[in-house]
Amino acid sequence: MNASKPKKFNIAGPCVPSDDYMLPALPRLPNVLKLIKSKKYFVLHAPRQSGKTTSIKAAVERINAEGEYYALNCSLEELRMCTDKDEAMSLIVAGLYGALFDSGVKALEKVAVSGFLAEARARADFNSSPVRVCFKVLCKRLDKGLVVFFDEADCLTEQPLWSFLSQLRRGFTERRKSPFPSSIALIGRRNIRDYTAQIRPDSQILGSGSPFNIIVKALTLANFTPEEIEDLYGQHTEATGQVFLDEAVQKAYYWSEGQPWLVNALAREAVGEILDDDYGTAITADLIDEAANNLMKRRDTHIDSLLRLLNEPRVARVIRPTLAYLKSEDPPCEVDDANLGANFFDDYQYCLDLGLIKGDANSYRPANPIYASFMSRYLNRGL
Ligand SMILES: Nc1ncnc2c1ncn2[C@@H]1O[C@H](COP(=O)(O)OP(=O)(O)OP(=O)(O)O)[C@@H](O)[C@H]1O
Ligand SMILES: [Mg+2]
Repeated sequence: MNASKPKKFNIAGPCVPSDDYMLPALPRLPNVLKLIKSKKYFVLHAPRQSGKTTSIKAAVERINAEGEYYALNCSLEELRMCTDKDEAMSLIVAGLYGALFDSGVKALEKVAVSGFLAEARARADFNSSPVRVCFKVLCKRLDKGLVVFFDEADCLTEQPLWSFLSQLRRGFTERRKSPFPSSIALIGRRNIRDYTAQIRPDSQILGSGSPFNIIVKALTLANFTPEEIEDLYGQHTEATGQVFLDEAVQKAYYWSEGQPWLVNALAREAVGEILDDDYGTAITADLIDEAANNLMKRRDTHIDSLLRLLNEPRVARVIRPTLAYLKSEDPPCEVDDANLGANFFDDYQYCLDLGLIKGDANSYRPANPIYASFMSRYLNRGL
């Protein structure tokens, strides 16, 4: 048993390696370093609280430690309610400045305070293309390529999104003549198709004029396997001596189907809430059942954001047929073709990307029994 202060199962935001039990975050993004070495622009999309931010933080750290490129993590979260293009661009420029300043990388911090923004603002094309101009001035001052992860890219809406991507595309196509980030990643829940649909709802293809045609790949994050859950829970056993019986690990997988936040929440509920951190008692399947029932009675923020999605008509349309399955417990639901509607496949794909469902378009079900319970109660308005 380790005598130092035990870590915790984290249920509030990105994991911090020194404080939280966690699985190695970078291997969850197996292709990302390869894409960066090939100087690609790409999308990383995965459901809510599946480890996107934790994983890109690990990637940024690794890239900066390896030293071939500079890496920056810039969150676009503050653009959530912003529909004005010019205001959005100012926020992105301010966000970039802040990300450089807080990067912890000397060369990037130095550029931030050395007047690069003033030089960018002095250029005649700054007002029409501020993000592109900032990146040009910034990259000219750096002695290595720059990799930028834009976290929470979903927060960009319509006009700001179009403008932002158009500027990236122009900078990308000019990058032989004039330096520009060697890789850019857009991180969020949305897959590339949903970004394009948001700008041009009728568009299915990324035509040559589309600002999306610079994006070569969409990556995603897998849920945890039972072995990974065993590994995560085993870290707690190692630190405290408290055992998770095999049956408890299997039960946690049953309830969560490996959804990362749920895996942590079940363990935390059992260890911290039900047993009040009494590490002398082994965690059994019954305790995990009790933890799951407690989670299903509460509405943690993770669940709240899930339920908000059910208010979207296209989500509700896809989820409703699964309610029949929930009653019969006969997995999975067979979808009646008559219910599909013209956009059904897009809507189904959207729900799949959001992590709400599993399975193919003709036969799918809620992503895990805990979501299923909430979906059923919420759509029946019994909650
Ligand atoms: N490497 C990991 N090992 C164990 N648990 C993890 C790991 N990464 C993420 N998690 C779990 O997922 C939760 C959310 O992590 P994180 O904030 O990185 O996800 P996210 O996908 O960026 O979330 P959001 O959609 O809110 O932006 C954490 O609180 C933790 O419970
Ligand atoms: Mg995040």
